[in-house]
Amino acid sequence: MLLESYKTFEPANYLQEYYSTVDLENRSLLAFFAEAYKGIDPNSVMLEFSGGPSLYSLITAAAHVKEIHFSDFLERNVEEIKLWKRFRHRSYIWINFFKEALMAEGLSEVSTDDILEREELLSKKLSDFLLCDAFNRHPLGQRCYQRYDVVAANFVAESITPSLKTWEEVVNNICSTLKPSGTLIMTAIQGASFYCVENHRYPAIAVTPEDVIRVLSYQGFDVDNLLMRHIPAEITDISAKDYKGYQGMLFVKATRL
Ligand SMILES: C[S@@+](CC[C@H](N)C(=O)[O-])C[C@H]1O[C@@H](n2cnc3c(N)ncnc32)[C@H](O)[C@@H]1O
Repeated sequence: MLLESYKTFEPANYLQEYYSTVDLENRSLLAFFAEAYKGIDPNSVMLEFSGGPSLYSLITAAAHVKEIHFSDFLERNVEEIKLWKRFRHRSYIWINFFKEALMAEGLSEVSTDDILEREELLSKKLSDFLLCDAFNRHPLGQRCYQRYDVVAANFVAESITPSLKTWEEVVNNICSTLKPSGTLIMTAIQGASFYCVENHRYPAIAVTPEDVIRVLSYQGFDVDNLLMRHIPAEITDISAKDYKGYQGMLFVKATRL
């Protein structure tokens, strides 16, 4: 289902708004991925669900999984990542994210060769590109039912609906692509009623850790052993000119029993 607001979603504007610098929110995300991907089976096939035009979430994943399948609802977002894979040597926008991700993984100094090596690795691991629809019970079609060892969904379910009931359905739909004993890595904005790209507002729903635990428990995840982190947003004053619509972020890693 194509939401009205996503008809005009422009990858370049979105990247400029959220990923033009490695700010505190982005550093925290990269630190979370460094923690979350530890212990993932290196033979895993991973799905990035609705990755947008973004690469930041794949940098550490590339060092821990065998293959990455990248998806989004919008073909123009998937196209951005395909272009990066083909012409990455011409793309500079993610370089600071590679550097920061490698530091979050424990490198005290990061050389150009280290970055090139990880870029090459990620490019190799990106082995399939798919279109998805989170509102569909089988968001990637029936053939992808319980197909993946790892599913990552970053800022998706709570960023495409203003309804808590629909959010739950969307998380359930996303989880249908995960194998019975698979691992879900999910990040979400918190305390949100919208998120902004330039002056355009996209729908969002405020979800709490309790909401996340409820839906993960229903999906058969080991909720007693979740990895869960919270950070405040950089701008929490709702009257600030550049308030982005959310109060914080929630990061979760969960494995199905
Ligand atoms: C806030 S962005 C997150 C993108 C990316 N994961 C990131 O962290 O930068 C929300 C994403 O949801 C995607 N989207 C919009 N409608 C969707 C739908 N019906 N099914 C799945 N994804 C959708 C958009 O194309 C966009 O990439």
